[in-house]
Amino acid sequence: MMAGRRDGSLMREKSSSRSPIVVAIAIGILLGCVCAFFFPHGFFSPDPSFPNRRLSNSQIGSSSCESEEKINMLKSNIMGFTEKNAELKKQVTELAEKLRLAEQEKDQAQKQFMALGKQHKAGPFGTVKGLRTNPTVLPDESVNPRLAKILEEVAVRKELIVALANSNVQLMLEVWFTSIKKVGIPNYLVVALDDRIADFCKSNDVPVYKRDPDEGIDTVARTGTNHAVSGLKFRILREFLQLGYSVLLSDVDIVYLQNPFDYLYRDSDVESMTDGHNNMTAYGYNDVFDEPSMGWARYAHTMRIWVYNSGFFYIRPTIPAIELLDRVADRLSRQPNSWDQAVFNEELYFPSHPGYIGLHAAKRTMDFHLFMNSKVLFKTIRKDDNLKKLKPVIIHINYHPDKLPRMKAVVEYYVNGKNDALERFPDGSDW
Ligand SMILES: *[C@@H]1O[C@H](CO)[C@@H](O)[C@H](O)[C@H]1NC(C)=O
Repeated sequence: MMAGRRDGSLMREKSSSRSPIVVAIAIGILLGCVCAFFFPHGFFSPDPSFPNRRLSNSQIGSSSCESEEKINMLKSNIMGFTEKNAELKKQVTELAEKLRLAEQEKDQAQKQFMALGKQHKAGPFGTVKGLRTNPTVLPDESVNPRLAKILEEVAVRKELIVALANSNVQLMLEVWFTSIKKVGIPNYLVVALDDRIADFCKSNDVPVYKRDPDEGIDTVARTGTNHAVSGLKFRILREFLQLGYSVLLSDVDIVYLQNPFDYLYRDSDVESMTDGHNNMTAYGYNDVFDEPSMGWARYAHTMRIWVYNSGFFYIRPTIPAIELLDRVADRLSRQPNSWDQAVFNEELYFPSHPGYIGLHAAKRTMDFHLFMNSKVLFKTIRKDDNLKKLKPVIIHINYHPDKLPRMKAVVEYYVNGKNDALERFPDGSDW
């Protein structure tokens, strides 16, 4: 903090001590130009009528001395014009720049006007609040009438849990929906990526949606790699939002202990669980970068936050939210080796800069004690006598590869009250 403030004053000092010199030089040059224009022969010209003579052609050639004088005069005229020309060019450039900025402002102002409808005065200190909760889109049933029908039955207050699953994750899916049923959450839906998992859901009374097999993106689901399926997830989600529903997207390596809809804020485009493990990493902090060779200014301040978990987030049907899904899906299709979670976070957080227009989406980090990742559980919670008494809303086994046994242990511990159920597991994985 201290170093940051010093950095700031350093920059101010430099600029304030430099600027008078710059101004003085500029005034000097300007005065020089004016003098050269009106007194090309200096202030002590013997002929007071010089400015008039300068423009008179009738006197050219009357004597050799005089013609030499005239050549000099013409030379200085040309120089004067060149200077004037440069000055004019500079002014034109400046005007063009001003015009560009004005057009940009007008464009942005117009967009804002259209988005907000009405201009408002700012209001007194401490009372202003920026727009966080964007309006929802107008539902468009034509996007997918069959899905619209399913959602009408399954969703509660226009929101629901959605998970994508294929046969590879059947055992985890079973723990997943069993925990959901046990809590009594009615509004959840499995998007089945193959027939076996669709049948498995039906035989277990689990709401399921199987996409039409002739839809192009579904060949990816059946044959594709993990990454291809990740891209598919964002495309499928889009339809839910277009139909006007808020989605709590859920991986299947998650155990539900309470109803998450009782713990959402619903004030942001994206509300996500975090990979962070304490207040700092989950909610953001000032990370000081030290470069001793810079001496007095060795400390550079950076802002850090652990990534959002793209396996559990609540997304509202708004334009910025849909734009996020599109941007992530687009990048995953163009960069097939990228990790969907990294792309999700970059699109959400990186600001606009030259050559790039950032997303303007509102985001909220979920409480990491309520929406808990498995690092928090196995590194901290299970060893802390107070924290282990708290009941989370969900636990996501995202930090461990032995997902199924850890999911079952979480159920044993939190649902069946078996106090030592978590003890046999190491903090991290053994590779
Ligand atoms: C973390 O933040 C919460 C409020 O968000 C606060 O109540 C708690 O004391 C903080 N914990 C620590 C260890 O700083």
